[in-house]
Amino acid sequence: MSGKYEQRDKEVILVVDDNRITCEVIQRNLEIEKFLVFTAHSVNDAIQILSRQKIDLVITDYKMPKHSGLELIKYVRDHLQSISIIMLTGYGSINSAVSAIKEGADEYITKPFTDEELLNAVKTSLQKQKEKKTDPEMLYNDVWTRFGIMGQSENMLRVYSKIEKACSNDAIVLITGENGTGKELVARAIHYNHKVRSIYPFIPVNCPGIPASLFESELFGHVKGAFTGAVEHRKGFFQAAEKGGLFLDEISELPFELQAKLLRVLQEKEIFRVGETQLKKVDVRIIAATNKNLDDLVEKGLFRQDLFFRLNVININIPPLRDRENDIILLAKHFVLKYAKEIGRTEPNFTDRAINALKNYSWPGNVRELENLIHRSLIMNDKDIIDSVDFPDIMKVKIHYNPYLDLSLEDMSKKYIRDVVQQTGGNKAKALEILKIDRKTLLKKIK
Ligand SMILES: Nc1ncnc2c1ncn2[C@@H]1O[C@H](COP(=O)(O)OP(=O)(O)OP(=O)(O)O)[C@@H](O)[C@H]1O
Ligand SMILES: [Mg+2]
Repeated sequence: MSGKYEQRDKEVILVVDDNRITCEVIQRNLEIEKFLVFTAHSVNDAIQILSRQKIDLVITDYKMPKHSGLELIKYVRDHLQSISIIMLTGYGSINSAVSAIKEGADEYITKPFTDEELLNAVKTSLQKQKEKKTDPEMLYNDVWTRFGIMGQSENMLRVYSKIEKACSNDAIVLITGENGTGKELVARAIHYNHKVRSIYPFIPVNCPGIPASLFESELFGHVKGAFTGAVEHRKGFFQAAEKGGLFLDEISELPFELQAKLLRVLQEKEIFRVGETQLKKVDVRIIAATNKNLDDLVEKGLFRQDLFFRLNVININIPPLRDRENDIILLAKHFVLKYAKEIGRTEPNFTDRAINALKNYSWPGNVRELENLIHRSLIMNDKDIIDSVDFPDIMKVKIHYNPYLDLSLEDMSKKYIRDVVQQTGGNKAKALEILKIDRKTLLKKIK
């Protein structure tokens, strides 16, 4: 693991006090002890720093003009669970100390304090923070609030550190993963946690959805009269995403001749609007996604190698759900909660049989399939339990996942039929039920 989840050599502390002298004194004392120290003189400044910088511990004053230290504690607790907090309170104001602890501060020190008191409090709360960081629940709460992504498997932790990395620079990101693994979710997390781009637009573009003839006009825009039908100036996706991010989804589907045009823009960071001769600079962060193996496509001559190299700067591969066994139930419960709330009913529990069925299934449609399944189960029955009988038949036979992905549609369907027939132990009726085809078709296929 790397990034945020790595053990850092220097711990980072943010000191917040409207009194600059207090800030400087604390900073000096802590720097002597080899901590890295940032200072802020208001809650707003502190939040700015927290959104840019990884901080382990916040030391904040209680009374400050505009927003109080309590509000900062609340912010940290709502957004950044794993950070420790020390509150500085005025002498004798036991009430403020009590409310600080209530809001989630780990320690408080009353002013005036000695260097030793400060250092002791810092050491204790950093120790607490270390414990929190290794507490998977905390870690996952933190990731959930920041990225909107659920999951605490090792595989996902690797994904989180890559997201973290991608948020702090402008390098092109290539997200790969099977259908429904959460590629768009990750793209959004990167954009909306980016240190500067997050306040600018995030524009998703579905590459196969753009007709080849309109590709340049859609991406780069056109000027009035550029072609029949161009009745007015039109901004393309690149300009719409200016200063923000452009999400090129299903990039593998981009026709070969258009790949060269895209490559040129990525290299030059300049576009021609259709019907215009003047180049326009663009400042856009590119995130691309695909469920195909681009390496293979390059080898087969279907994807340009130079474009692939350009895109593949930060590669985030999202593992399929079957490789995140520990996350399946976590996600299932998350979706139960989500949809029960939406429908306005109390959330049902899973029976043990249901839990087993969820764990054993191979989830070819990944998280999306799981989400749809839970949604459907909630709509279809209003019992207070979800049992495996509520699940579709396909989940009742255990079909080991096979790398169908590199098979043609026809071969895949043959293989699938063979698997189902095998797994149902020659019970044709059962196989027919699962495959939803008639006996004649099945016999033909078996032949
Ligand atoms: N780890 C996760 N936590 C919570 N929700 C998730 C997670 N992963 C995926 N989802 C949900 O699953 C659905 C599918 O995710 P998404 O659209 O990002 O997948 P995708 O990889 O882009 O799929 P496709 O390849 O079909 O385009 C979405 O509703 C998304 O919110
Ligand atoms: Mg998608």
